[in-house]
Amino acid sequence: MDPCEMGRDLEKVLLTEEEISQRLTEMAAEIDADYAGREILLVGVLKGAAMVMADLSRKLAHDARMDWMAVSSYGSGTKSSGVVRIIKDLDTDLTGRDVLIVEDIVDSGLTLSWLAANLRSRGPASVEIAALLRKPCEAKVQVNVKYCGFDIPGEFVVGYGLDYGERYRTLPFVGTLAPHVYA
Ligand code: PRP
Repeated sequence: MDPCEMGRDLEKVLLTEEEISQRLTEMAAEIDADYAGREILLVGVLKGAAMVMADLSRKLAHDARMDWMAVSSYGSGTKSSGVVRIIKDLDTDLTGRDVLIVEDIVDSGLTLSWLAANLRSRGPASVEIAALLRKPCEAKVQVNVKYCGFDIPGEFVVGYGLDYGERYRTLPFVGTLAPHVYA
């Protein structure tokens, strides 16, 4: 992306690449300690969680397994619709597995609340959630995020996997989008 164009679209950098990396290192250490002696199945939620999954998984000492789901909840705007649809399901049978859902952001909580319930119905040993970002002020349902990177304000954020209309996902940091972009 043209840096000048990017500069106009972004309001500010909320979390730098270094801050994200440092927090993921701490989260990985917690996860390693909590799951000692158990095998973890990391379930990444496409597409937003791609970056968190790649970076968090490589910081784990655990030899975790990885699988992916794609669900749709946003449409192309900036608000959750509350309607969750499975676009791609897991390849893995969850029976008896310790599942750790990996997400980029918990906004209204509607997606994760639905997803966690869906995965719990498949007979796993456990289902927990790791999310890089959470917006407490936007919560419509309570979701127990065991491993949370950062609580952030209600602004629209992009980068590090998060998009607006499929753009900005590849930015290495998390930034806020200037209101004129989505007005
Ligand atoms: C985003 C994000 C979460 C969900 C969070 O996904 O990755 O899955 O929205 O919102 P909620 O807490 O309000 O439900 P999105 O549907 O934008 O798809 P993407 O991951 O492909 O960008």
